[in-house]
Amino acid sequence: MATITSIINLKGGVGKTTMTIALAHYLAGEHGKRVLVIDLDPQTNATIALVTERRWRERDQAGQTLYQLFKDQLDGTRAFNASEAILPRVSNITGGVPGLDLLPSSIRLHRIQDKITKIADIDTFRGGPVYALREALRGVLPYYDHVLIDCPPNLGIITLNGIAISRYFLIPVVPDILSTLGVPLVLDRMADFALRAQHEIYGLGIVVSRYRPTSRLHKETVANMRRDAIPGIHPPIFATVINEALEVAEAADVEESVHSLRDKFGGGGPHKQFSGLANEYMRYVGG
Ligand SMILES: Nc1ncnc2c1ncn2[C@@H]1O[C@H](COP(=O)(O)OP(=O)(O)OP(=O)(O)O)[C@@H](O)[C@H]1O
Ligand SMILES: [Mg+2]
Repeated sequence: MATITSIINLKGGVGKTTMTIALAHYLAGEHGKRVLVIDLDPQTNATIALVTERRWRERDQAGQTLYQLFKDQLDGTRAFNASEAILPRVSNITGGVPGLDLLPSSIRLHRIQDKITKIADIDTFRGGPVYALREALRGVLPYYDHVLIDCPPNLGIITLNGIAISRYFLIPVVPDILSTLGVPLVLDRMADFALRAQHEIYGLGIVVSRYRPTSRLHKETVANMRRDAIPGIHPPIFATVINEALEVAEAADVEESVHSLRDKFGGGGPHKQFSGLANEYMRYVGG
């Protein structure tokens, strides 16, 4: 059965999408795993980093994005079909990475988010729209080794759909004061959901992202995070650190064809770091 992990932080811009995309590439490309990326964010950043905008628009018009799944919840229809919506062999590395698939998002999700919340039984999480994704994926999950869910920076009903199927969550964090303050909040909300929905979900780890080795603040914050982490209470802080690097930002451009993971994510530093991240991830999930 697939190992399902949500990449989450309630703070925006900490590298959730970037990390999801990179980790998925390395699990598929270096470890030979069958990986599904689920883009739960109406910003559709992960989608647009894995397929061209033109391809996404075609799919969105045809009702083959997550918009359709949630629209079905409102309309009482069942038009969404996961195996049709999933795009196989995505990425711009030599025309697509075998084993790397995407369930695309849609910017139209913004519009229906609030309406879905109104029909959801948020207090008990019993049945209903919180489990729409779980029901839709029932038939396809057995085909994957790993599912990575790119979450938006909120815990709305769409995000909860991802949490409800996840065994683990991973928190990317930029090592500055404001960003690290958000971590206890994520842990608290996950624990609360686990309790109320009777669903076990584990903090797999915290990954330092967009790290600037020349910044005294970043250095001190990481040192403090490692010093203050209480084993068994806090998720482990990954030994791997992802540096801020221009190549990493540029890796989101899917329009230009590249030939290898190293080409895409930037030779040397970023390539080694993401490769290390995937190795560490595999060690923690025992896969
Ligand atoms: N390691 C990195 N080096 C350089 N730029 C990075 C790195 N990681 C992320 N970025 C850039 O920082 C910005 C935010 O990253 P990203 O979109 O991954 O964050 P996010 O947490 O998913 O944001 P949101 O909360 O809006 O979904 C993007 O422009 C991205 O290209
Ligand atoms: Mg994002």
